[in-house]
Amino acid sequence: MDEIPPALGHGKAPGRDPGWVRALLHAVLVWTLALLLLGSVVHATGSSLACPDWPTCFGTMMPEMKGGVFWEHLHRLWAGALVVLFTAAVIVARRTLPGRPDLFTLGLAGIGLLLFQSVLGGLTVIYRLPDAISTSHLAVAFIFLALATVMLVLTGPTAGAALNDATSRRAGLWAATMIFAQSIVGALVRHTDSGMGCPDVPLCLGRVIPPLVHPMVQLHFLHRVLGLAVAIVVISGTRKILARTQDPVQRGLGVALAVGVVGQIILGFASVAFRLEPPYVSTHTLLAAILLTLAVAMTTRARRPRA
Ligand code: HEM
Ligand code: HEM
Repeated sequence: MDEIPPALGHGKAPGRDPGWVRALLHAVLVWTLALLLLGSVVHATGSSLACPDWPTCFGTMMPEMKGGVFWEHLHRLWAGALVVLFTAAVIVARRTLPGRPDLFTLGLAGIGLLLFQSVLGGLTVIYRLPDAISTSHLAVAFIFLALATVMLVLTGPTAGAALNDATSRRAGLWAATMIFAQSIVGALVRHTDSGMGCPDVPLCLGRVIPPLVHPMVQLHFLHRVLGLAVAIVVISGTRKILARTQDPVQRGLGVALAVGVVGQIILGFASVAFRLEPPYVSTHTLLAAILLTLAVAMTTRARRPRA
């Protein structure tokens, strides 16, 4: 790992204390993860069309919160609150860290993503859940989560400064890319109703390699094989970090990713074994999002310092 002068690698810019910005961005991350979980529960409980209209629900912003309406409308309200919270974080960042135009640019991109996401959410309802739009809704949620994670790390204290560590930067980037791709495939599995394409575990249709005669089996099996590939990439990345990187946070992130990816595979199998029961599939979505956050944080911390 190259030695760099602290001033160059420091994530904090000339300006005032980023304490408030960081507090707000921490809140944004937690709120977004909860929103992702809620969105997954909306689908898993069959509540996606409980509100038949958008942006209102049965023509009002205050429908009776029971049955599927509870989950679907709560998801919308939670999303609205996220837009407010994130916009507040961007405004506070602009005021307290005026020397950081990069943060403001990321913030504007984030607000744009949230507005686009809200429209996508509305379109899923209006067009009765087309697979492509539902899958894009998950993809945009994950992209926003990654962006908020980058912003949080970039406002970090000295410990979060650019480490310029090629090993953990490469490991984090590979992990983030693979987890994101696997999550899109997972969303396709879900939205094409291929979750039970392989109805048995750990084998698929009683074989290690099933007869790939139906698109549902093909997609489901691809998700399992890719899951194994993600685990291999993440665990080998962690091994390299433990061998070559001294930074305790990067090492901790590496271990958390390796443990998490194993937990994710167990949850995937449990989702099938328990016939896509909401607690298993929704925790599976949440853990995928947490893994992405960890990998993006690792990559961003390991970045090269700016000249
Ligand atoms: C008012 C705006 C929104 C509406 C109307 C909306 C609507 C929906 C609906 C109907 C579903 C179920 C989709 C399906 O079953 O195929 C859903 C799922 C979901 N939503 Fe939203 N949503 C909104 C905003 C957001 C935002 C801002 C985020 C995150 C940043 C988000 C994240 C998710 C996630 C992760 C899922 C689960 C997707 C999946 O299971 O593949 N939503 N949303
Ligand atoms: C690192 C590995 C994995 C990641 C990151 C991952 C991620 C995901 C994601 C994000 C979804 C979409 C959930 C949604 O749309 O809300 C999903 C769906 C799914 N995953 Fe995985 N997954 C992994 C491994 C596995 C494995 C090994 C299995 C084993 C069978 C599995 C089984 C499933 C099933 C059955 C669904 C569909 C759930 C449904 O229809 O509701 N996953 N996965």
